[in-house]
Amino acid sequence: MSVKVVVGAQWGDEGKGKMVDIFAEHADLVVRFQGGDNAGHTVANRYGVFKLHLVPCGVFYDDTANLIGTGTVVNPDELLKEMNEIQSAGVDLSKLYISDKAHILMPYHVALDGLSEKGKGGIGTTKRGIGPCYSGRALRTNLRFEDLADLDYCRSRLEIFVDGINNQLKFGGWEETFSVDGLLAKCLEWREKLGAHIVNPIELIHSYLDADKDILFEGQLGVMKDLDQGIYPYVTSSHPVAAYAAVSGGFPASKITDVCGIMKAFSSAVGAGPFPTEMDESEGSEMRGDGNAIDDEFGARTGRARRIGWLDLPVVKFAHRVNGFTEAAISKMDKLDRMEKIKVCTAYRLDGKIVDYMPSARDLYRVEPVYVEMPGWMTSTAACRSIEELPENAKRYLKLIEDTCGFPIKYVGVGPEREDILE
Ligand code: GDP
Ligand code: IMO
Ligand code: MG
Repeated sequence: MSVKVVVGAQWGDEGKGKMVDIFAEHADLVVRFQGGDNAGHTVANRYGVFKLHLVPCGVFYDDTANLIGTGTVVNPDELLKEMNEIQSAGVDLSKLYISDKAHILMPYHVALDGLSEKGKGGIGTTKRGIGPCYSGRALRTNLRFEDLADLDYCRSRLEIFVDGINNQLKFGGWEETFSVDGLLAKCLEWREKLGAHIVNPIELIHSYLDADKDILFEGQLGVMKDLDQGIYPYVTSSHPVAAYAAVSGGFPASKITDVCGIMKAFSSAVGAGPFPTEMDESEGSEMRGDGNAIDDEFGARTGRARRIGWLDLPVVKFAHRVNGFTEAAISKMDKLDRMEKIKVCTAYRLDGKIVDYMPSARDLYRVEPVYVEMPGWMTSTAACRSIEELPENAKRYLKLIEDTCGFPIKYVGVGPEREDILE
């Protein structure tokens, strides 16, 4: 039996999708445990190239069940769109499940996100309604998938809250408003199209635990965007950390057997907020690409050019502190193949002193990264078949990470495809 949690060790987009697609071959159940369709998880396998937003990246194996878990916020229209795309590639979705406790992300959540991003308080969200839906969860005004079974109940709840939401939108100068009847018609449509996938998540997860099966929990984003531990307020509204898999899944945290941290060989971030090792535009463009290749650094959800920076080890070390990685995977080592010199940030200096903790977002704007400069390997890693076969300088790069951060790197990515992974 194993309960493995896969989480991002940086700012998101570390390559979680590819690793979950690989790990899922040996998993009986894959669970997306937080976030919503703000995610863009890239998978390249024999079915094609996919940017998955809500559907767990384990759907490509016939024997693996997949659950969109309780801690997620789900826009049903977006889910249906994604399911159609995946099904048209020949993938069977009969074992795709949705937690009846997952929150329904309504059209007005998307409008409210758009409205708040228009103002001065915008933080560069994906405008998918994530923050407003999690706010509704905390305010206890949302509908959950279980509520679709009782449309009278849905009506009674919408009648209480929709006027207030419309007033808020009108006050902010937003043109679109919402009617209870229109929203109820959507609820009916969602029930008809998704009803067969809605399950009791506790029963499902515990049936796999009791049978000693292998479960994989797929996180979204990375530790720096965690609502509590990240660079608040430039964060998402959920918890992309390993312990939250247990909260979301409804099982004891002590059942988690493995935590796999996914990191990228350099740093990238989307949205506003401090980013100590950020490169200037021209420096970053080589790693970013022009957007035409599958692995170019453009937001899989919004298409925004990702901000690029050198590898920031204080961030990765902090991710290990919060998550307790039992193993790690590093993606995109191949993107460094042609770099003569590679810089790695090993510490931050703040007000003249080296700091040994993760500073607040305000202080992160002020820290000075301390870099070591390493010689690159200036040779292609594409043909390597094991970590042992990597060029010596690439192995030194990995050792610096392991020694500084204190966890073993078990997997090394040298390309975007499922096969491009070294152990
Ligand atoms: P996620 O959100 O963590 O799943 O990551 P994304 O899919 O948003 O971004 C990771 C990007 O890196 C995608 O374009 C992947 O195709 C690509 N990728 C993942 N691993 C590797 C790797 O080892 N090498 C290369 N060149 N690309 C990779
Ligand atoms: P994956 O799962 C990168 C960022 C947004 C913004 C902040 C809050 O592919 O790693 P939100 O829409 O969640 O309220 O936005 O989080 N963000 C992501 N950045 N990858 C993602 O997902 C992201 N999901 C949200 O840019 O800074
Ligand atoms: Mg992504």
